[in-house]
Amino acid sequence: MQFLYNLILVLHFVGLASLLGGFIVQMKSADKGVNPAMWHGALTQLVTGVLLVGIAESGSLEDEPLDMTKISVKLLIVLVITVLAFIGRKKQPPQVPLWGIIGALTLVNVIIAVFW
Ligand code: HEM
Repeated sequence: MQFLYNLILVLHFVGLASLLGGFIVQMKSADKGVNPAMWHGALTQLVTGVLLVGIAESGSLEDEPLDMTKISVKLLIVLVITVLAFIGRKKQPPQVPLWGIIGALTLVNVIIAVFW
């Protein structure tokens, strides 16, 4: 089970790379918006995050128990990101506010994951 958990954690990092990379790559563009990398990255974070919690809570790992307050805040933020990415993905760019809020919330989730 530890192997599966680690594998999903790797996918969690791939999702982060996609979401944040899709945001950063548009930094200098005039047509900022929600690109497929951001949309798919948001979905990947949601799915892999929930799977990680499911495995950890099944009691089959030797790790310390998860901080459920931290997880709940991350889940809430990713739900907002996913809704915004869903709204923005079909819209014609520029969608600067959507792009900016999604990028900022992604960074907030990284900071929560590392510092909390
Ligand atoms: C944009 C969304 C997200 C970002 C950027 C993100 C980022 C991260 C990062 C950087 C780590 C590694 C940190 C470490 O292991 O110390 C991590 C681990 C983890 N994340 Fe996320 N995450 C996101 C969404 C979620 C969601 C929605 C959930 C659960 C519902 C979740 C659950 C977890 C779990 C269980 C771990 C394993 C390590 C731990 O926190 O103890 N993540 N995440």
